[in-house]
Amino acid sequence: MNPIRQKIEEEIRDRGPISFSRYMELCLYDPELGYYSRNAEQFGKAGDFYTSSDVHAVFGRLLARQFDEIWRALGSPERIELAELGPGRGLFAQDVLGWSENKFPGFFRALRYLLVENSPRLRERIKEILRPYLDSGKARLAALYPLEGESSSDAPTMIFANEFFDALPVEVLTSKGSLCVDTRDSHFIETWAPSSPEELEFLDRYSVHPEPGERLEAALAAQQLIDRVAATVRRGFMIAIDYGYTRDEQLAGRHRGTVKALRQHSVSANPYEAPGEQDITADVNFTALAAAVERHGMQTHKLITQSQFLMGIGEANQFADAFEECRVPQERAKVALQLKHLVTPAGLGESFHVLIGSKGVEPEKMESLSGLNFGRRSIAR
Ligand SMILES: C[S@@+](CC[C@H](N)C(=O)[O-])C[C@H]1O[C@@H](n2cnc3c(N)ncnc32)[C@H](O)[C@@H]1O
Repeated sequence: MNPIRQKIEEEIRDRGPISFSRYMELCLYDPELGYYSRNAEQFGKAGDFYTSSDVHAVFGRLLARQFDEIWRALGSPERIELAELGPGRGLFAQDVLGWSENKFPGFFRALRYLLVENSPRLRERIKEILRPYLDSGKARLAALYPLEGESSSDAPTMIFANEFFDALPVEVLTSKGSLCVDTRDSHFIETWAPSSPEELEFLDRYSVHPEPGERLEAALAAQQLIDRVAATVRRGFMIAIDYGYTRDEQLAGRHRGTVKALRQHSVSANPYEAPGEQDITADVNFTALAAAVERHGMQTHKLITQSQFLMGIGEANQFADAFEECRVPQERAKVALQLKHLVTPAGLGESFHVLIGSKGVEPEKMESLSGLNFGRRSIAR
């Protein structure tokens, strides 16, 4: 029998039906048997899904350009912390550090990069690819954020998360109550428990209430996590990129019931099929995420698409960051296709959204970031 299935069944036998979020947590993050703990081969062509950094290094390079601009908007401080949540294999960090070292030496000197990854396997992978940066103290690796026993420094902070919040466990709510997972004859079955006051409050504030037959998610774990993270930022920025929705979109009838399982690049709606062997995700509720950081004094900008964001950063130099190593036209053509995948509606460009928040920064400075200004500069010229 699949070992994580056995472990989940034992927990249900001992404690009774478990919440869907607990089921998702065990499937993904059980320290030995969970999907993200068992191996490091989830990403890329041979794995189950691609993230933007798997497509091309230009994603990290454009973000390095944006981080350098943020550093300058903050007055080019001597030290700036970049904390990346859920870095996976560390490809994004590798691209940002490498490009900054090459192109933005002032920013690179000031930068301290913290990778916060809770999978021990992925931390080992990160140690391999970022060895020189970890050895020199330029980068650090941790399992949890904020770091225990470390008082927050005076340096400004940038929090960055790509496809992180969609990987956090969610509660699933219906008009019958909250979804729980039970077992019968060695199968997982769905049962319902009365929804908790927190779950109902989440729906009241950031979502809608489910119609009969509908499923909606309450992202309580994401709320708790971003609450802890945002509380550490005295001055700085947050950039969260993910697929997701706003409450207004839900009111218009969209994004109702977004839990998906992903395996070998195909999507299934059945999260019970291959526990521990498939990824389980839920679209991000950006209304809730924005409200959580605003509670900690951050200003947020209205949600934009990844397409607008990357076009805004790359338009000034016509995406030279992508093409630098291309020697022959065929290489240029290949990179152009990868870039297209990152920015166009048919690729990741329109399904992914970017939430940007800032704290202790003049609003004009945030509004002037190139990532938030696609099209505006050229119109003004
Ligand atoms: C879908 S992957 C995204 C990886 C990477 N950001 C990328 O774009 O390729 C989500 C990552 O978040 C990590 N993760 C999930 N919950 C976490 C937590 N509470 N703290 C730190 N990392 C976490 C997972 O182990 C996984 O590496």
